[in-house]
Amino acid sequence: MHTLLTADPKEAAAYIHRGDVVAFPTETVYGLGADVFDPSALRKIFEAKGRPSDNPLITHVADLDQIPDIAGDVSPAAQALIARLFPGPLTVVLPRHPSVPSVATGGLDTIGVRMPAHPVAQSFLQACGRPVAAPSANLSGRPSPTTWEAVRTDLGGRIPCILQGGPSTVGLESTVVDCTGDVPIVLRAGAVTLEALRAFLPETRLATDAPHLLARSPGTRYRHYAPGARVLPIDDPQDAQATSDAGYIGLDLPPDAGRFGLCVRCADVDAYARELFDFFRRCDAAGLTRIYCQTVPARGIGLALMDRLERAAHA
Ligand code: TXA
Ligand code: MG
Repeated sequence: MHTLLTADPKEAAAYIHRGDVVAFPTETVYGLGADVFDPSALRKIFEAKGRPSDNPLITHVADLDQIPDIAGDVSPAAQALIARLFPGPLTVVLPRHPSVPSVATGGLDTIGVRMPAHPVAQSFLQACGRPVAAPSANLSGRPSPTTWEAVRTDLGGRIPCILQGGPSTVGLESTVVDCTGDVPIVLRAGAVTLEALRAFLPETRLATDAPHLLARSPGTRYRHYAPGARVLPIDDPQDAQATSDAGYIGLDLPPDAGRFGLCVRCADVDAYARELFDFFRRCDAAGLTRIYCQTVPARGIGLALMDRLERAAHA
């Protein structure tokens, strides 16, 4: 299959209109979208990615008016988050509207809803004129793509179109918050931090703090975010062994930085989050076998960064 590259959101939206899939940029990572109301288009997403069919998709909206078409009862907690934090790197889990095919939600009666802030994503979703279900646009099990080039590496020849935007500015997937129960539960950490959520909803909890809560997030069951190389989190850069088949990324330079195959020092935790997945992919392309990743304190976006590092290390 030929994969068209375009920077025109309207040209990309035409693929959604005709029941096909399109990769598009968001500020978190690139997504692979399809019309949420079209079961055969949705099945193409699972096929192209090799994604397990019980892993639910996030549905993207252009404006708040589209939410009642895809979700039922929006609780006061959900309303508070939507009013303050949409558009942005946040997904809110709500009851699924019966008109949404269950293939979109991996058979669940809930649905993840997100409104991206990226201007190209917004133009694209406006042009689609309907909500668009989209997981990250990587092959299942690979790191999420933060550039259109990474999408092409994974899905070139498997999808008909990639909408080009610049590199994603956040670089980690959205924060997922389940708002269907008594208290909001963070199913996946992201750039909307636990601290920010608690500023509005102090009772917000982390799913990782209680195993019965974690069971609600099907995505966390799967191998995720993993490069081919072995990921080794280290607290102290001195523990990284400098060899030409090893990579290093962190806030501080390790000793013998020049002897690593690839070595990146990030200016701050935001930059580290933005660069992590791209660094994983560059290490794989260079054939490296080990990637040392300096750990950071698990607060702010550091919580999301450590979550992705731990998953990659244990994949
Ligand atoms: O930043 C993002 O969220 C990107 C962009 C494209 O929006 N999307 C993304 O999608 O990362 P995906 O499919 O790679 O990850 C979706 C996560 C999975 O862990 C999934 O289990 C969870 O969200 N999720 C989606 N719908 C859910 C639901 N109804 N209940 C619980 N978890 C849900
Ligand atoms: Mg994904």
